[in-house]
Amino acid sequence: MSGDPRLPLAVVISGRGSNMAAIAQACASGRIAARIVRVIADRHGAGGIAVAHRLGLEVSVVAHADFASREAFEDALAATIDESGARLVVLAGFLRILSPQFARRYAGAMLNIHPALLPKFTGLHTHERALEAGESEHGASVHFVTGALDAGPVVLQAHVAVRQDDTAASLSARVQHEEHIIYPKVIGWIAAKRLRLVNDVVYFDDRPLSLPLIDAPGESSP
Ligand code: GAR
Repeated sequence: MSGDPRLPLAVVISGRGSNMAAIAQACASGRIAARIVRVIADRHGAGGIAVAHRLGLEVSVVAHADFASREAFEDALAATIDESGARLVVLAGFLRILSPQFARRYAGAMLNIHPALLPKFTGLHTHERALEAGESEHGASVHFVTGALDAGPVVLQAHVAVRQDDTAASLSARVQHEEHIIYPKVIGWIAAKRLRLVNDVVYFDDRPLSLPLIDAPGESSP
């Protein structure tokens, strides 16, 4: 057993890994009492693999394409997480749907970030859909993962005003900027034992959260 008191994280990615890099930075600076013990990519070509290597992080590739079934893939993913010693699983741009069994296995110990103000716009193409719907506000949500897609209890949201001339790309860039702030913040709260999930209820500082917390812009400490 390591004597390191910082919360060990397994960060699971499918894409370019900008959230993973923001979390790594928050860990390295000591802003949050956590450390990444493994980055796991579900695709051999994920851009975030090179980023993780550059940051000196240990990387495993558990590629969905290498397995005959979702069950076999999830077994290998769980084995890699457990062997890493992680105590919190951080889905950071992981674009696969996990089975309810997998979610239950890590109940209260798995977070996701979603680029929308949940429960609005679950699934893909959230920025395009927010623009098409004429939303005046959009944003990102950090939530505990339960069996249902993008539907676990939301902990923290960041709101972003939609501008008249926004494209999906410009809106996405501003939402991602906020993601990089709110995701480390929530992980820091769990590491500091301020946040936990009990029977699908989120407790923050020992009080049940009935609504998601809203990130206050400009507030920098987790
Ligand atoms: C992030 O914007 C994240 O919210 C989104 O993927 C992006 C990954 O970016 N996740 C989802 O859509 C999950 N439903 P990153 O690889 O640069 O962190």
